[in-house]
Amino acid sequence: MTARSRYHITTFGCQMNKADSERMAGVLENMGLQWSDTPEQADVILYNTCSIRDNAEQKVYSYLGRQAKRKHHDPKLTLIVAGCVAQQEGEALLRRVPEVDLIMGPQHANRLQDLLEQVFDGNQVVATEPIHIVEDITKPRRDSSVTAWVNVIYGCNERCTYCVVPGVRGVEQSRTPEAIRQDMVLLGQQGYKEVTLLGQNIDAYGRDLPGITPEGRRQNTLTDLLYFVHDVPGIERIRFATSHPRYFTERLIRACHELPKVCEHFHIPFQSGDNDVLKAMARGYTHEKYRRIIHKIRALMPDAAISADAIVGFPGETEAQFENTLRLVEHLEFDLVNTAAYSPRPGTPAAVWENQLEEEVKSDRLQRLNHLMSQMATERSHRYAGRVEEILVEDQNPKDPAQVMGRTRGNRLTFFPGNIAELQGQLVPVKITEVRSFSITGERLPAEAVV
Ligand code: SAH
Ligand code: SF4
Ligand code: F3S
Repeated sequence: MTARSRYHITTFGCQMNKADSERMAGVLENMGLQWSDTPEQADVILYNTCSIRDNAEQKVYSYLGRQAKRKHHDPKLTLIVAGCVAQQEGEALLRRVPEVDLIMGPQHANRLQDLLEQVFDGNQVVATEPIHIVEDITKPRRDSSVTAWVNVIYGCNERCTYCVVPGVRGVEQSRTPEAIRQDMVLLGQQGYKEVTLLGQNIDAYGRDLPGITPEGRRQNTLTDLLYFVHDVPGIERIRFATSHPRYFTERLIRACHELPKVCEHFHIPFQSGDNDVLKAMARGYTHEKYRRIIHKIRALMPDAAISADAIVGFPGETEAQFENTLRLVEHLEFDLVNTAAYSPRPGTPAAVWENQLEEEVKSDRLQRLNHLMSQMATERSHRYAGRVEEILVEDQNPKDPAQVMGRTRGNRLTFFPGNIAELQGQLVPVKITEVRSFSITGERLPAEAVV
């Protein structure tokens, strides 16, 4: 490898994959490679893949196919498949696309240098065995200079019957509070202002770490972690995702209320509004419990932004059960619901059940839920009209260089006229003048305006 070699990473899937890609990019730069904006001009191409639904997986094969062909006349091209499809398919992926040089599961992201050196020595490498995730020592190449992700727990020990994640991401592994705090301290020193703590089931944080208080309470919970990292200098906002209703505690709600840097923004997927469907999904809570959580959050933080995920057309879901999902969305006034039609996934229990629904039924329900969702989101946006919000400025508006963009504490995307060179990374009071379903526009007020 010469110092002039260039790499490109294409990332599919969730924030976890995006965070892994930033770390892998850091490793490649540390090895002397340079970022290329397009895969066509790169000598090392990495696809960080997602397997959550079939369409996500198929996308990977079509991207990969194109580069595999290129490899026939450009043999020094190195092709890497990382992430969840790599873990799921392993060796089978080599039979399908023999041009691939390296297949590496998500637990191996921090080992990229070691694995790539084996490839440069002439080996075709498959790294999918479960391992203890080692701490990363290289500096990630982060997309933003204002907001950053910090992993707190890898893997998932739940067994939701539709989901590939436990199979591809492995068992829960929490990072120590000290390692997490250290990351945040460095980010603060580098000028980052916002951190999102990441885990597939972030409420499980610390279950695998030692520690019981003298009163017999488990230490090292997510709540303890929030208190532990809250005073990191420079970091002005803290978010966390994804929350699981089964483990979401009142203590956590109180902490979010009490700690000023923790934003009033919660991502708590409910998946279905019907108790029998929730049971078949093995989610471990009822819609009543879910509603209670939301009400408790709003009792302390009336303006809290709440987002969620939902699946329609789960095997056996009746029209009446689907309508229970519609009802839940109608009642709870979400800021955003990510919706999906159920997709049977390899190795998951629900995929082999006989009560699968027709594609037309699934897509009809998806459309109906999406319609309701965007109506609700528009209504939620309206509460911002005329208000003054604190916006953390992230970037220029890509569609209008005279505007900058950032987010409210509730995570609403906000645009306003301003100069990015002056405002990037600043917390600015903005008066909201225009609202749309998923974003808002406003005008900057003088810094002393009270939010
Ligand atoms: N850990 C999170 C979600 C992770 S996956 C949780 O427990 O909620 C992100 C979202 O993808 C899920 O919330 C779910 O709505 C969706 N999803 C997962 N598996 C799916 C499948 N087989 N078909 C359709 N959507 C799915
Ligand atoms: Fe998948 Fe359930 Fe784990 Fe979320 S909690 S990642 S839906 S198994
Ligand atoms: Fe996809 Fe893997 Fe995330 S399956 S949603 S990239 S954990």
